[in-house]
Amino acid sequence: MAKKSIFNGFLCGNGWEDALCQELATIEPANKYYSPAPGLVVGGTSSSNLLFEPVFARQWLPDCVKVQGTSIADLVQALGKVVDPYLDQSPLPWTFKCCTPDLYTEDSTEYESLSGRPALLHEKFFERMGTYRRRALERYQEWDEINEKRPCLVIQVIMVATDRLWISVTQRFNTERGWLVPFLWHHSPGQVVHDPLAPCRSYYKLEEAWQQASVHPRKGDTCVDIGAAPGGWTWAALKRGAKVIAVDAANLKKHVENHPLCEHTLDNGYAFMPSKTVDWLFCDMIVKPMATIGLLDRWLEKKACRKFVVNVKFRGKQPASILAAIAELQIKHQIPELIVRHLYYDRNEITLIGGQLRQ
Ligand SMILES: C[S@@+](CC[C@H](N)C(=O)[O-])C[C@H]1O[C@@H](n2cnc3c(N)ncnc32)[C@H](O)[C@@H]1O
Repeated sequence: MAKKSIFNGFLCGNGWEDALCQELATIEPANKYYSPAPGLVVGGTSSSNLLFEPVFARQWLPDCVKVQGTSIADLVQALGKVVDPYLDQSPLPWTFKCCTPDLYTEDSTEYESLSGRPALLHEKFFERMGTYRRRALERYQEWDEINEKRPCLVIQVIMVATDRLWISVTQRFNTERGWLVPFLWHHSPGQVVHDPLAPCRSYYKLEEAWQQASVHPRKGDTCVDIGAAPGGWTWAALKRGAKVIAVDAANLKKHVENHPLCEHTLDNGYAFMPSKTVDWLFCDMIVKPMATIGLLDRWLEKKACRKFVVNVKFRGKQPASILAAIAELQIKHQIPELIVRHLYYDRNEITLIGGQLRQ
């Protein structure tokens, strides 16, 4: 039988395939990357040399293989053939996720025809496990409950068409750089809980950013929110008992403006600088990307904030020069921790979460 080809797979937001290919090619010029379908990027042959966490990747599928089957029963059988040897040989706990490639794309209709099939495959796969692999089933852990610090087997199944799956089985472990291989987004889309008092959609971006970094403002923290109106980001911090200086010439929603911990100033966001170091800088101004990066540069120069969430907006879909400028900024200021992500709620923008995040 012909040996299955093994490749690196990635999920990204629909429409961001080229940005991800470009990003991967910049870091690993020896590998060729391309997008076979919306939300999917493939390339490279081995996972071992991926030493960075790409901004535009939502999920990494190392050592991926493709299988085919004309029915769900066929696909479950093909899936079993791939995963059984791992589950039989490894004593590790394991987790499993099955989805379509647009799991991380808001309002996607691209894979509508597959709707319901990943759930069916999931159900039938676990029925099969209950019949043929009961011991292994005892080690199963829900995706959201895997222990951050302990290794485990990660089984990722992407249904790319009614008759086709990508399957990645890999061991998850900590690297010296402190991130996990493969990186996994800790939340599923939609997990930012709806807040009826959120003044606007931007609120969800900041909540998602905090989820990604596992940190958010605490009661008593001081935050400066530049480009604050109508008040989504300010609201997210006020809710947690932080004091917020909201900088924007535009109006805030009344319940934000009147909040006792909110101080609204009409100052120009570029010129604003606090008299002493604050806990958090937030910036979500719609301005040119280098203007936002310049603002962050000045704040870091003056050590004016301990942590920051800064949203960098851009035109088009080719933000390579912006990523390069961010990398320079990190080196220049030796930012202790910096997470750069194209978030689920981000459109033509990326979000930087950084500083002394663990203090
Ligand atoms: C995308 S909105 C911010 C949304 C906000 N994060 C929220 O959650 O409600 C961008 C804001 O930046 C403000 N802005 C643009 N240029 C600014 C400047 N130079 N100084 C202060 N605010 C500015 C605009 O008035 C606008 O309200």
